[in-house]
Amino acid sequence: MTNYRNYIEQTISFDKGINIIHGKNGQGKTNILESIFICSAAKSPRTSNYKELINQDTKDNYFVINMEYTYKDTDNYIKIKYDNKEKTFIYNDICLEKVGELMTRFSSVLFTPEDLYIIKGGPDYRRKFIDMLICQIDKGYFYLLQKYNRLIKQKNASLKVEADSSEKTAYIHVLNEYLADLGTKVINKRLEFLHEIKIRSNKIHQSISSHLEEIDLRYISVDGVTEDVFEKETLKRKLDNYIERESIRKTCLVGPHRDDIEICINGKDARSFGSQGQIRTAVLSLKLSQADIMEQKNDAKPVILLDDVLSELDISRQRAIVEKFHNNQIIITCTDKEKILENRNDNIRYIFVQKGKIIV
Ligand SMILES: Nc1ncnc2c1ncn2[C@@H]1O[C@H](COP(=O)(O)OP(=O)(O)O)[C@@H](O)[C@H]1O
Ligand SMILES: [Mg+2]
Repeated sequence: MTNYRNYIEQTISFDKGINIIHGKNGQGKTNILESIFICSAAKSPRTSNYKELINQDTKDNYFVINMEYTYKDTDNYIKIKYDNKEKTFIYNDICLEKVGELMTRFSSVLFTPEDLYIIKGGPDYRRKFIDMLICQIDKGYFYLLQKYNRLIKQKNASLKVEADSSEKTAYIHVLNEYLADLGTKVINKRLEFLHEIKIRSNKIHQSISSHLEEIDLRYISVDGVTEDVFEKETLKRKLDNYIERESIRKTCLVGPHRDDIEICINGKDARSFGSQGQIRTAVLSLKLSQADIMEQKNDAKPVILLDDVLSELDISRQRAIVEKFHNNQIIITCTDKEKILENRNDNIRYIFVQKGKIIV
């Protein structure tokens, strides 16, 4: 990392198995996991603004993340540079023309305390969860989503301008036709993956809840619960019906950017009725199934990043998670290393972080 977050120039190497990054709060532990995650998703889980990643304490106006890794038994590297104007992505000496080309080169799954918002938060957290998962497996979806979002921006902009109403309506009709087409593809891709997540997370959930609980996921789109294939006509009709409302509200009101996923435990909406413990277990099941899906689709084991999450679990659950990933590389952050995986005999690599420096 060069000029990245609170690091000036830092190289870190990790062991194949379990790595524990420890240190007090605010020293730069999460920043390390974030930099690794960015190499798999081209996005920070904490901000959409690359500017925030540049070290604010130096005069230099750029940052670099350079990651060497082994993937499917070959040595590779990813280099990401940002200089306030341009983002550059380099993969094994090739300068990638489009950021989507970074997808599926390296995969990691990040577990953070904020994951609880997948259940407790608003619909945007659930959309982000499923979209990030699909993007890391299918770059076609990344481009599809990019196109859809651009179109939404374009439509929002035109809803905001005061213009001759018939001309404007005609233009909105044209945009709606494209939106219906792309939006339907987005919804159907999400439905396909939701089905995968549903099957896997329910299995995992049952096993961690000692078969006392079942988890169920339902996709909520423009016409309520959507199960099988979503038809373009449904979205087109809805979009056309909303033309008047949207021009009053001056924003796009229907489409996959407004959809939601309902997560139920034993038939009840977890967001409203789930207990703390149930929500924690459900989130864990969702994330573990994400790791499973990524492993299967990318045909490689993702690096598991556990940011401050293990210390929240009892020792038997900590062990269960680490056991599940015994063939993956695992990088854990915590403030108190004594509380993590006590009495474990594995070779654990400890990395101590203080004020943006690694002190091994
Ligand atoms: N762009 C930046 N430039 C300099 N320092 C930053 C930047 N972004 C975050 N920091 C610093 O990084 C520290 C937080 O790092 P973080 O990895 O979240 O800590 P923790 O060790 O608690 O996980 C804070 O001290 C914060 O001020
Ligand atoms: Mg942290």
